[in-house]
Amino acid sequence: MHKAGFVVEKDWVKAIIDERLFSSFIEHLGRAVYQGIYEPNHPLADEQGFRKDVISLVKALHLPLIRYPGGNFLSGYHWKDGIGPAGERPVRLDLAWQTLESNRIGIGEFYDWTQKVGTNIMGCVNMGTGTPKEAGEFLEYCNFEKGTWWSDLRIHHGHPRPFGIKTWCIGNEMDGSWQICAMDAAEYGKKARETAKIMKLIDPSVELVVCGSSGPKMPSYPEWDRIILEHAYEQVDYLSLHSYYENFGNDDDFLASFASMDAFITAICATANYVKALKRSTKTMFLSFDEWNVWYQGRQQPRKPFTGTPASLLEDHYSLLDALVVGGLGITLLNNADRVKIACLAQLVNVIAPIMTVPGGSAFVQTTYYPFRDLSLLGRGKLLQPLITSPRKETCYGDVPVAPAAAVYQEEEGKLTIFTINTDTKIPLDLTVNLRSFHNSSADFWTELSSEDIHRKNSPEHPEAVQPIAREVTALALGKGVYHLRLKPASWNVLRFTLGEGDPLHLETV
Ligand code: AHR
Repeated sequence: MHKAGFVVEKDWVKAIIDERLFSSFIEHLGRAVYQGIYEPNHPLADEQGFRKDVISLVKALHLPLIRYPGGNFLSGYHWKDGIGPAGERPVRLDLAWQTLESNRIGIGEFYDWTQKVGTNIMGCVNMGTGTPKEAGEFLEYCNFEKGTWWSDLRIHHGHPRPFGIKTWCIGNEMDGSWQICAMDAAEYGKKARETAKIMKLIDPSVELVVCGSSGPKMPSYPEWDRIILEHAYEQVDYLSLHSYYENFGNDDDFLASFASMDAFITAICATANYVKALKRSTKTMFLSFDEWNVWYQGRQQPRKPFTGTPASLLEDHYSLLDALVVGGLGITLLNNADRVKIACLAQLVNVIAPIMTVPGGSAFVQTTYYPFRDLSLLGRGKLLQPLITSPRKETCYGDVPVAPAAAVYQEEEGKLTIFTINTDTKIPLDLTVNLRSFHNSSADFWTELSSEDIHRKNSPEHPEAVQPIAREVTALALGKGVYHLRLKPASWNVLRFTLGEGDPLHLETV
């Protein structure tokens, strides 16, 4: 039996968590848009052709932002193709994903959909085949109230009120050889800076994200990030990070992916801090981890280009094991909430996604939906820094805790949430949670995501094969703010406490 202990003190506040930390991403890619959120012939389609079952599942995630329209797609996409009468829009070659883009859904329709699911768009401007001028026009179309060519055109297209898109990515993965019109760091740094200037002149309230390295495995990492920031430090608000994690055959290494993400964030913070010092700047560069997930890139099948509209691309099916990794990555994002202000699970529907659809049929959620939903709903408030005593294990990312954890205090509601994982796939873990500084705490609930088979997945036939269960909170030994629980091997756990009024227990008892 493993033993672990968490001491959570209410004054050990590390950060106020930015609400945008659990955002997501929809790209014109595979069946994300077409046959994902939009399927006009589906029995559950609404008057605009959006699937109502998908809307409900997305709504339940309470997403603050959805990044749109790409991704690699972005670098060949011209937003003007997606506005105006639907029947007059051009069908284009999508070179990034080698498919045909009908442009039936453009910014106006996507905005309408985000209103239905209760979220906001994180816009992206094309820095591949696109120009700074075109980026400015896009922003003007979206955010300028009225009285100019582009704003009046939006009104003419049926949107009298501006979309008010506040957060924008300047391009996507511009260091990647796969990116259409990839650039070297100095070239992109200058283009991003000049685009940022135009965008802030049009709408000074926007916040801008500049492309960092496409991942820590890039040969140019982290030099790319340094050079970009040296060019555009004062003009942008966030530096982006992207990273995907995959099981290469060793479950312990895969389960330790959270440590790899943590090291990536630490290195990028150090790089950004270096540029801050170099520039004698008082501004701290915050991070936007706007693509993260488990993605089995090695399993992608080659296919004939420009066939099948829409094509099924990147449709990974996730197991419990994958869900535990997603949970661990979410815990790492929380524990870095002092620097990471935005993060997008990539992606949301059908493409490496927590939500899947069957054309003409059902929509169901994958295992990864559950930890992501827990983090999104309950990972808001003050991030506390618990004292964690956990057994440790050696992995390809070094020595890591068996039970990574994050604690979030919702002071106004008088609630505390602890997220933790037993990453040991065989041995249960006896956990002691000590809430000595909170008076009169009581356990509200404990939910657990686990399965006898860590490779079990949900499917259209078995949509509930893996789903969270409520554990008996009376199983927690109550007394003086100390709780005991036994975590199953390979389990994702959410513990929620109500906190009472009054003096902290440890002051009373000393
Ligand atoms: O999310 C899938 C792809 O991964 C995105 O299009 C790209 O930005 C990244 O390489």
